[in-house]
Amino acid sequence: MSNIPLHKVLKTDRLRLRVVSLSDIHLVWSASRYEGFNDGMVWDPPLDKKEMIPVTSKNIKAWEEGVAFTFTIEIAESNTPVGRIDIRIESEPGVWSIGFWIHPEHQNSGYATEASKELMRFGFDDLRASKITIAHAVWNTSSKRVIEKLGFEFIRENPTGYLKAGEPVPEYEYEIRAFEFRNFWLQNTEIL
Ligand SMILES: CC(C)(COP(=O)(O)OP(=O)(O)OC[C@H]1O[C@@H](n2cnc3c(N)ncnc32)[C@H](O)[C@@H]1OP(=O)(O)O)[C@@H](O)C(=O)NCCC(=O)NCCS
Repeated sequence: MSNIPLHKVLKTDRLRLRVVSLSDIHLVWSASRYEGFNDGMVWDPPLDKKEMIPVTSKNIKAWEEGVAFTFTIEIAESNTPVGRIDIRIESEPGVWSIGFWIHPEHQNSGYATEASKELMRFGFDDLRASKITIAHAVWNTSSKRVIEKLGFEFIRENPTGYLKAGEPVPEYEYEIRAFEFRNFWLQNTEIL
């Protein structure tokens, strides 16, 4: 368990990552109206905006319990919310996993990569993670590209990664350790 205050903010050159809030409901609602947006993620598009109220409370409770930290990603200059990113504890000691999404109107601007790099630094430095894992649906080539840009090592294909409409979706699984993360970014300064 990790004790991180709710007002903790992570900063990058262009972005600010802060705890989720009910003010993000439009962001989540709008993103999840795009056809196929949720296909690569476990959660399904909400049918009613009210569904997002207990989800937000659950995210904040998990943060307070120190088991999962879900951040809203904002463009710092304009305060525009553009996506979400989270890091959550796994059952193996010292292992945390991350996941992300960016609103379709803001994709392909490097935001997922930039936010993930900072979240991974937070994971290794503040949460003392020894290893961070990530996975994407085999078909999800933009997620695969982000994961490659972050220096993750491919580990295996999991034929039953997660369930969508009751059917298993195969995933590729990856991991990275603290020293590998630091070495990767020392050697790849041009990525961001
Ligand atoms: C995956 C996702 C988070 C990427 O966010 P993003 O902010 O667009 O990511 P970035 O801009 O940092 O990088 C995207 C990379 O994918 C590449 N890309 C985009 N579409 C692609 C495609 N169809 N095939 C291969 N690569 C693609 C971009 O060119 C870019 O790579 P580059 O920097 O080498 O040019 C975003 O597409 C998303 O939210 N998708 C829906 C939710 C989802 O699937 N989340 C991930 C679950 S594992």
